[in-house]
Formats: sequence, structure tokens, C-alpha cells
Amino acid sequence: MLLGPPMRCWLLFLLFTLFRATVVAGNVTIQSTAPEIVYSPPACNATASTCQSAWQIVPSLDDPDVLVTTTSGPTNGSAALVPQLFLTFTGTTLYIRTSSASTAVTNVSLATQYPDFAITSRVDTATANGLITVVGLPSDRATTLTMTYVASEAETRLEISNITIVTTSNASPFSSSPLPSSTTIPTFSPAISPAMTAYTSKQTRDDIVAEVLGAILGVVLCLFVVAGLVFWRKRRKTMAAPRTLGY
Ligand SMILES: *[C@@H]1O[C@H](CO)[C@@H](O)[C@H](O)[C@H]1NC(C)=O
Ligand SMILES: *[C@@H]1O[C@H](CO)[C@@H](O)[C@H](O)[C@H]1NC(C)=O
Ligand SMILES: *[C@@H]1O[C@H](CO)[C@@H](O)[C@H](O)[C@H]1NC(C)=O
Ligand SMILES: *[C@@H]1O[C@H](CO)[C@@H](O)[C@H](O)[C@H]1NC(C)=O
Ligand SMILES: *[C@@H]1O[C@H](CO)[C@@H](O)[C@H](O)[C@H]1NC(C)=O
Repeated sequence: MLLGPPMRCWLLFLLFTLFRATVVAGNVTIQSTAPEIVYSPPACNATASTCQSAWQIVPSLDDPDVLVTTTSGPTNGSAALVPQLFLTFTGTTLYIRTSSASTAVTNVSLATQYPDFAITSRVDTATANGLITVVGLPSDRATTLTMTYVASEAETRLEISNITIVTTSNASPFSSSPLPSSTTIPTFSPAISPAMTAYTSKQTRDDIVAEVLGAILGVVLCLFVVAGLVFWRKRRKTMAAPRTLGY
């Protein structure tokens, strides 16, 4: 079948769009000690005598071969900072697994930007059966998870085992974009729970306009590339022509 370059361009564009719509979903599980997770104050190896941080890396009581990250609240050794963890990822569903030693209450926040959207919920890890689930996250932009230790009257412990992210693409869920500063995360009415919670993130009119513009720009760019190639080939021919005549 013979097709002109503009037609091929369209076909490529269509194939690319189809490919994007049918990519398979995948699960990515990271351990609590993974470098993608940022701890404040930074976590340290509990066996080291210099480890005074509020976050410590210890073998799990459930499985001694597995390392978990644990905190029982602010310590003097790390300037009484409230223990927090941050993770920026792109995915639709998030599973946070805590160990059986975990009894603390934690504030779980999820935030996205452009448009700004945030949701916060208090979760009691003692009654959450070791699993905190967040569903309905946007698959087209990064989400930042913030978990904050909430002190209670009794001594409690927050112990993170691992985190699973369900993605809709084969790409790594961890973008290279930097963490937004945690202090500017806007808060919304709480709706997360240990059970399944859905929240809808509205697509604004600007988003739709941007998407349509993006698609049009893609086609226009594609056509420009083809036109450029044709022009370049013609020019090369006309430039090569005098040389074949010889001097
Ligand atoms: C991802 O993991 C969750 C919980 O571990 C499971 O329910 C789900 O079926 C998995 N999804 C895929 C696509 O593997
Ligand atoms: C912590 O330190 C101990 C002994 O120094 C070492 O065996 C262990 O591998 C370290 N754990 C981590 C997570 O670095
Ligand atoms: C932490 O510091 C406060 C005030 O500086 C002090 O009262 C407290 O005893 C200290 N706690 C520990 C465990 O050292
Ligand atoms: C994640 O943590 C849970 C709870 O500690 C454990 O049962 C599970 O095997 C872990 N999964 C992975 C992939 O490490
Ligand atoms: C946890 O969130 C609640 C509101 O949901 C807030 O009042 C409280 O100050 C937060 N605690 C911490 C330690 O961030």
C-alpha cells in the first residue's frame, strides 16, 4: 500500500494514541528502605550507636529477614522533629503495608499539582490490619504521599513494611521531578480510611483545553517534520546538481 508521508504521519500518531490507551497495568512494590522514600528526620540503622534519629531501620518482628522502618515519635537526638515520610509517584492505587508492631495513629495525605488537589485522613494503624489503601489517584501526573506520626497518650509505634503502587504504564512510577515542599501541601476534607476510599480528581476546563491543544500541536509538529524532510531532500538534490556538472 502506498501512502504519502502526511498519511504515514497520521497513522503513526493514531498508533501512538492507541498504544497509550491500551498499556497494561502493573504493580511495583518497594521496601520501606527504598531510596525513593524520603524520611524526615533521615532514617538510620538502629544497630549503629550513633543512630539517634526518630526513624530507625530494624529487622521486622514478623520476618527477621525483612528490614522495616520504625518510629515511636520525636527524639531529642533529631531535634524533636515530628517523624514524616514522603513518596512521589505516579499510579492509580496505593497500598501501604505496616507491620504487626505498628500501633500509632498517622495522618495520611495525598497531593497532586496542576490542578492542586489534596486529601488528608487520620488512620489508626492498630486497627487497619496492616494495610492502608488509596484508590482513584490520577494516572497522568505525580502524586505525593505524606505520612505523619501523630502522638497519642500511650507510647505508640509506626512501622512501615512496604508500599505497592499500581501503575497504568510500563514506565517507572517514580518520576525525576523533585518533591514539592511539604509545608505547602494544601489540605482538603479528610476521606481516606484503612478501607477502600475513592476520591475523584476533577478535570478542569483548562486541562481539557491543554489536552486538545497538545494533540493538535503533536499533529502540526509531525507535519512540520515531514515538510522539513521533503524540503531538505529537495535542497540536497538541487545543491548536488551543479556539482555533477563539474568545474
Ligand atoms: C496488585 O496488588 C494488589 C494487592 O497486592 C492486588 O490486589 C492486585 O490484583 C495487583 N494487581 C496487578 C495488576 O498485579
Ligand atoms: C546495620 O548495621 C549492621 C551491623 O553494623 C549490619 O549488619 C546491617 O546490615 C546494617 N543494616 C543496614 C540496613 O544497613
Ligand atoms: C529531651 O529534652 C528535654 C528538654 O531539653 C528533656 O526534658 C528530656 O528529658 C529529654 N529527653 C530525653 C529522652 O533525653
Ligand atoms: C509487604 O509487607 C507485608 C507486611 O509486613 C508482608 O506480608 C508482605 O510479604 C510484604 N511484601 C513484599 C513484596 O515485601
Ligand atoms: C493530623 O491531621 C489533623 C486533621 O486531619 C490535624 O488536626 C492534626 O494536627 C494532624 N497532626 C499532625 C501531627 O500532623
